[in-house]
Amino acid sequence: MRIDIITIFPGMFSAVLDESIIKRAQQKGKVDIFVHDLRPYSLDKHHKVDDRPFGGGSGMILQAEPIFRAVAAIKRKIKGRSRVILLCPQGKSFNHACARRLSKCSNLIFICGRYEGVDERVRQYLADEELSIGDYVLTGGELAAMVLVDSIVRLIPGVLGDKNSLNFESFEGNLLEYPQYSRPAKFRKWSVPEVLVSGAHDKISAWRKAEALKRTRQRRPDLLKK
Ligand SMILES: C[S@@+](CC[C@H](N)C(=O)[O-])C[C@H]1O[C@@H](n2cnc3c(N)ncnc32)[C@H](O)[C@@H]1O
Repeated sequence: MRIDIITIFPGMFSAVLDESIIKRAQQKGKVDIFVHDLRPYSLDKHHKVDDRPFGGGSGMILQAEPIFRAVAAIKRKIKGRSRVILLCPQGKSFNHACARRLSKCSNLIFICGRYEGVDERVRQYLADEELSIGDYVLTGGELAAMVLVDSIVRLIPGVLGDKNSLNFESFEGNLLEYPQYSRPAKFRKWSVPEVLVSGAHDKISAWRKAEALKRTRQRRPDLLKK
């Protein structure tokens, strides 16, 4: 997979892309991630990429021209189809199913808005879809893009060391994960459920399934309806 991110703050990404599993995924050749500064795509001699909104109002809007030019330049480098995603609080809510769907794409291009947002023509004529990471407003799309990259890349086959860790985690099969414990078996006055130290794998698996159902019913009954 190849991921291209368009932003006016490329420096924000190293903390996420150059650490841990996402870094190793790139080293293993599972994903190539390119962060592009939007400013060089501006035709303005001062590399300005924003302007005031028509009709008045507060703040600045990222202009369409540099964003269209950046996406065109990236598409010229890409072999095959790409999906252009605009990070936007008004977009469809991003969830695990979206992450799964996008993890099967070969090329993803993320556009990070800033200030009061992006020129409407970007969403109308350039973006294939708009995604939101929740009903709140961030100062920019960069954190949202990082959330998407993290959750998508870990689903690419071979990125996580143990592929079973994907099968039994929250939101797979519309269930939340069962409770997890580690050593010691007794911490202060609290012991782990006896079944987990019994060594009986069929009983452990039945217990986990029942706990996952109980937990989902208690916390997220909406998932069970799906
Ligand atoms: C301050 S926001 C603009 C909000 C816009 N004026 C509105 O009211 O819908 C600036 C940028 O941050 C990003 N952003 C903010 N909240 C987001 C969210 N919940 N999910 C995804 N991106 C978000 C978008 O890229 C957006 O263009």
